[in-house]
Amino acid sequence: MKRFIIAGNWKMNIPPSLDEYRAVLKNPAPERVTAVICPPAPFIPYVADFPDFISVGAQDVSEHDSGSYTGETSAAMLSVFGVKYAIVGHSERRASHFEVDELVNRKTKAALRAGLSPIVCVGETLAEREAGRTVEVVTRQIGAVFGSLSDAERESCVAAYEPIWAIGTGLAAAPEDADAMCAEISKIARCPVLYGGSVSLANAESILSQAHIDGALIGGASLDADAFSRIIAIAAELSA
Ligand code: PGA
Repeated sequence: MKRFIIAGNWKMNIPPSLDEYRAVLKNPAPERVTAVICPPAPFIPYVADFPDFISVGAQDVSEHDSGSYTGETSAAMLSVFGVKYAIVGHSERRASHFEVDELVNRKTKAALRAGLSPIVCVGETLAEREAGRTVEVVTRQIGAVFGSLSDAERESCVAAYEPIWAIGTGLAAAPEDADAMCAEISKIARCPVLYGGSVSLANAESILSQAHIDGALIGGASLDADAFSRIIAIAAELSA
């Protein structure tokens, strides 16, 4: 029986009303679905107060455990506020904060040291895809992070295949293509693999029905409580 992880990445946005969002999330209590919301850091305490079936994630984590690192937040500090997951290596941070594979590897290990589950994001640009380099790029990114992890560490990890051209564009990858890449990733990472990139209420079922896709990392659609909870319900149905 399949289990799913449905993770929302609010990025630097919040829903118009957190109270209304929370009210919509009331009842799904899905059995084989882990639902996660990753809000902007100051809103972590609000989301930690959401119904229990929602786990809280951070959108980033420092590679360091403590010290003089202005602006950084350690995994242990996040954990004090109930955070269970941390997105690492999101393409937006790779692009705008110079996060290279080695740094993503160190952040992954920092999250693991504090008992958080890292959600390790990888994905190719449109130019890389058009040059036929998708598998090469993605397997390099995954190998750089997971190559040095033990089997026990991998058990706490999640990978997310997020083709950059599909993020925020409304152009999700074809479910079969996403499935093939998630299968490649899972061979190396040996942990659950999510798909991310324009997942919506309309395409969630076809994406989550794929054999090698263990869930979704959802940006825009996760800001809509109704859409997000209905995607959780779709996952719950598919896992039944
Ligand atoms: P999107 O974002 O669902 O808005 O495409 C996904 C992500 O960046 O995690």
